Amino acid sequence: MRLAGKTALITGAARGIGRVFAEAYVNEGARVAIADINGEGARECAAALSRHAIGVSMDVTDQVSIDRAVAHTAKELGQIDILVNNAALFTAAPIVEIERDDYERAFDVNVAGTLFTLQAVARHMIEHGKGGKIINMASQAGRRGEPLVAVYCATKAAIISLTQSAGLNLIKQGINVNAISPGVVDGEHWDGVDAFFAKYEGKAPGQKKAEVGTAVPFGRMGRAEDLTGMAVFLASDEANYVVSQCFNVDGGQWMS
Ligand SMILES: NC(=O)c1ccc[n+]([C@@H]2O[C@H](COP(=O)([O-])OP(=O)(O)OC[C@H]3O[C@@H](n4cnc5c(N)ncnc54)[C@H](O)[C@@H]3O)[C@@H](O)[C@H]2O)c1
Repeated sequence: MRLAGKTALITGAARGIGRVFAEAYVNEGARVAIADINGEGARECAAALSRHAIGVSMDVTDQVSIDRAVAHTAKELGQIDILVNNAALFTAAPIVEIERDDYERAFDVNVAGTLFTLQAVARHMIEHGKGGKIINMASQAGRRGEPLVAVYCATKAAIISLTQSAGLNLIKQGINVNAISPGVVDGEHWDGVDAFFAKYEGKAPGQKKAEVGTAVPFGRMGRAEDLTGMAVFLASDEANYVVSQCFNVDGGQWMS
């Protein structure tokens, strides 16, 4: 029960990694707001999980929605101690085919969504004067470029950079900002990634997934459950002296 009595807000938690984090946090004693643009999915997820979880409709690209989600979480579950900026979308295209709309949407959700949710929760944490923990979801894609994934890679590199700056800016208020960089994690997200590569590399459905799984030094793709140890640690008091870091949890894919 390393998060007993804490309140967490997790964005993009109606499915995938965020959903598994919500479950892990509840199991560690936290109350959790499962926030997602898919509000119905978020509420279903919360209902299935525990009476310590609530579902919240939230679009991280909309400031009114961010502020409302923060206020609603605090009202229902108490002051927010932990934020996981997890909502993101994937996009891929060769450089010469990238479309401005797609670029703007990816940066709006992945980067602006992370920054302005972090800002809203940091203001709330400062107001309450008890510090807090903020975890941003980066990616191995933010550690290096990829020929077909320029925009998504750039958004995740921006997350690593924002984590460093925000962590340095907020630690004096007792707010630890850190990031997790997963490798390839199986789930609906990767079903979408697989479909992109099927289109651009002429692969059969499922082929890219099989290839990336084999390439992981650990020997398989990650599972959301592989990340929960780090997510709980960074949200707990054990991480009080951990500032502005980005941790690879990727089966040995990347070393830095
Ligand atoms: N799955 C992987 O292989 C992998 C690898 C590296 C990093 N990551 C990162 O981990 C995080 C979670 O990944 P996942 O695989 O669970 O993704 P996912 O696509 O399964 O889930 C993302 C969730 O975000 C929500 N969302 C999208 N736009 C939103 C918005 N504007 N406002 C609020 N919610 C919104 C979606 O509805 C969805 O529930 C993401 O930040 C992703 O970039 C994933």
